[in-house]
Amino acid sequence: MAYVTALRCRSCSREYAVEPLNVCEFCFGPLEVVYDYDAIARVLSRERIVQGPLSMWRYAALLPVDGEEAVDINAGFTPLVRCRNLGRLLGLEHLYVKNDAVNPSYSFKDRVVSVAATKAREFGFDTLACASTGNLACSVAAHAARASMKAYVFIPADLERGKVVGAAVYNPTLVAVDGSYDDVNRLCSELADAYPWAFVNINIRPYYAEGSKTLAYEVAEQLGWRAPDHAVVPVASGSMFTKIWKGFHEFASLGLIGKVATRMHLTQAEGCSPIVEAHRANSLHVRPVRPHTIAKSLAIGNPADGLFALRTIRDSHGTATAVPEEEVAQGIKLLAETEGIFTEGAGGVVVSGLRHLAEEGAIKPQELTVAYITGNGLKTQEVVEHLVHPLAIRPTLASFEEALRGAVAR
Ligand SMILES: Cc1ncc(COP(=O)(O)O)c(C=O)c1O
Ligand SMILES: [Zn+2]
Repeated sequence: MAYVTALRCRSCSREYAVEPLNVCEFCFGPLEVVYDYDAIARVLSRERIVQGPLSMWRYAALLPVDGEEAVDINAGFTPLVRCRNLGRLLGLEHLYVKNDAVNPSYSFKDRVVSVAATKAREFGFDTLACASTGNLACSVAAHAARASMKAYVFIPADLERGKVVGAAVYNPTLVAVDGSYDDVNRLCSELADAYPWAFVNINIRPYYAEGSKTLAYEVAEQLGWRAPDHAVVPVASGSMFTKIWKGFHEFASLGLIGKVATRMHLTQAEGCSPIVEAHRANSLHVRPVRPHTIAKSLAIGNPADGLFALRTIRDSHGTATAVPEEEVAQGIKLLAETEGIFTEGAGGVVVSGLRHLAEEGAIKPQELTVAYITGNGLKTQEVVEHLVHPLAIRPTLASFEEALRGAVAR
């Protein structure tokens, strides 16, 4: 049995029944899921969580589903990696990476889609759909395959090859749109009105977004039931950023962890940093931009949760950092070389953003810091191709030694 009582408008607080609905009919504000936390507190404990499945579904009581079988490709329960090498370089003694690049479809999107697909099936939909910057397309297609549902996934036509093939392989109807993500999203909002499909990040969005809370729950559990001092997060729409913050606070209010003093650090690439710009201008109003960034997974010029992300920065005493475009690939390379973790553009943004925060003293050496690595580098190899130099040789000792001398000289 789910502990969801209603949907509620985040702007005017009007309540709605639990239906496939994402905006308030009165003020067009976004809707959010409301829970009966007293009922959850009666059933949820650390002991009960520990006995649950080794996936994000160990936190099912805090997810908006009715408890029937989940659409599950085994998302979540990803490693929290202590990063001593990178930490030494950056002067951080207690640095961890939440490695969500190793989810089944290779990004954190499996968390949100697992919830959305489960909810869509409960609502009686037979078709999943989405507007995607790439990773969501892969995840929706994979979950639809698992659930024997149809899938329509819409992406900007200029995505990296690894994301196009990485979505198409699951056999959805993959639609490459000649336009930006924001164009794709606008089109999909129209389609969501015209077709009886579950667009996970449109009409199912309130439920979908809740899946990102598990990124907080897992980190808190993996740290020995505490929230970190700092969380560094890559941001596109702003949804995940706000839900990590919400997740830590839910755990605290249920008595599962102590008081939360996590500072939430938002990172974007300079070529698409509308939320950082608003923060710098000390404004809660995000002015849409036209993205020109190598971090394509974060290329949302008109972020749906921009206002709430800005509030999260303010409430958590966090920061907002825009990383220069050339530092995106450098961040990817740095994490790979120091910790053996190959991330994509979003992770490059986080690692370079983390470096700036450490250098500026926003994060102190002793403070417990978690950097969220949310996508996999094998999907976006184009981004770092110019930084790698494999040796090409003939199959002879002489050829090998000649190539080696050349490499050493370089
Ligand atoms: C790898 C990765 N990280 C982070 C994000 C940002 O998520 P959000 O739109 O919730 O800010 C995305 C969005 O597509 C993504 O693909
Ligand atoms: Zn409203």
